[in-house]
Amino acid sequence: MAELSGLKKKALTDIAAAADLEALEGVRVGYLGRKGEVTEILRSLKDVPLEERRRKGPEANALRKDITAALEARMNELKKGASAVARFDVTKPGHRPLRGHLHPLTKLEDEVRRIFASMNFSVVEGPEVESARYNFDALNIPANHPARDMWDTFWLTNDKTRRESSAIGHDLLLRTHTSPMQVRYMETHEPPFQIIVPGRVFRYEATDASHQFNFYQVEGLMVGPDVTLANFKFVIEKFYEKLFGSGIEFRFRPSFFPFTEPSVEVDIKLKGGKWLEMMGAGMVNRNVFDAVRYNPDKVQGFAFGMGLDRLAMVKYGIPDIRLLYSGDVRFTRQF
Ligand code: FA5
Repeated sequence: MAELSGLKKKALTDIAAAADLEALEGVRVGYLGRKGEVTEILRSLKDVPLEERRRKGPEANALRKDITAALEARMNELKKGASAVARFDVTKPGHRPLRGHLHPLTKLEDEVRRIFASMNFSVVEGPEVESARYNFDALNIPANHPARDMWDTFWLTNDKTRRESSAIGHDLLLRTHTSPMQVRYMETHEPPFQIIVPGRVFRYEATDASHQFNFYQVEGLMVGPDVTLANFKFVIEKFYEKLFGSGIEFRFRPSFFPFTEPSVEVDIKLKGGKWLEMMGAGMVNRNVFDAVRYNPDKVQGFAFGMGLDRLAMVKYGIPDIRLLYSGDVRFTRQF
């Protein structure tokens, strides 16, 4: 009995260890072949006394059955493995794993930065949380002035009276445009200079195909003794040429902004012939120069604020601005 159970253990271990069908056949012959260990035991039964044969016979037969079953199971296992290897075709092209990359807006912003840098503009950035003083007052948009309604604002406090008490910290908001950086920059620098300010802005407004409640702008400001609107037109024309190549059609349209006089808006002609508003611009208003203690009789300059998302829509042919914020990789993978 002990001999048989020892043999069974050894056989099962050998079967499990057989690495391929050939090795398994070797194991089978070793136990069940003509001179196999189990075969020998069964054969030897005819020479033992009847009493012992009755006891040992069924045991030995059961052992043969168990080993046969284990061999069969292992054989099926190995066959499955073998066909998996056969199915693996090393000459087939592999699957390219998905890799992250920059968002189209980030790419475009980099390009805009490069183009303006090549025209000798410095790139500066400013805070997204602003005070009403920089976002409005110093830009010639006093409290209660109807022009303030041009920008629907996310205030950091709900209390309108406290907000307008001009107590420090109560007039905080999410900047509605990048124009406050005009003031911040002029407060700490002397002309002549030319800068751009890329950044995120926020507006409390409903979204549609060309409007988001948070989007990106690129502010521009050039100030010197004799900077004119003609200089602005030249800079913008060169910018569009560098970004789109030739063939882009744009127009100036008279407009109004409290911080520029005169003011214009720049539209680009889309492929279908429709015009899309791209930016506001104009000559810096004297009141803004007063607020930063520049002498408006000695310096003048132009300012502009372009929508980066709108630029992306034209450059990449994106029909709906909301796609840029969808987080859908099927969209972003195309860029
Ligand atoms: C302004 O924000 C002014 N600060 C621009 C300016 C700067 C004028 C300097 C004069 C001098 P406006 O609200 O029109 O203006 O926005 C400027 C541009 O931002 C628009 O032309 C448009 O391209 C883009 N824009 C405006 N609102 C949205 C919006 N909700 N979603 C996406 N882009 C927008």
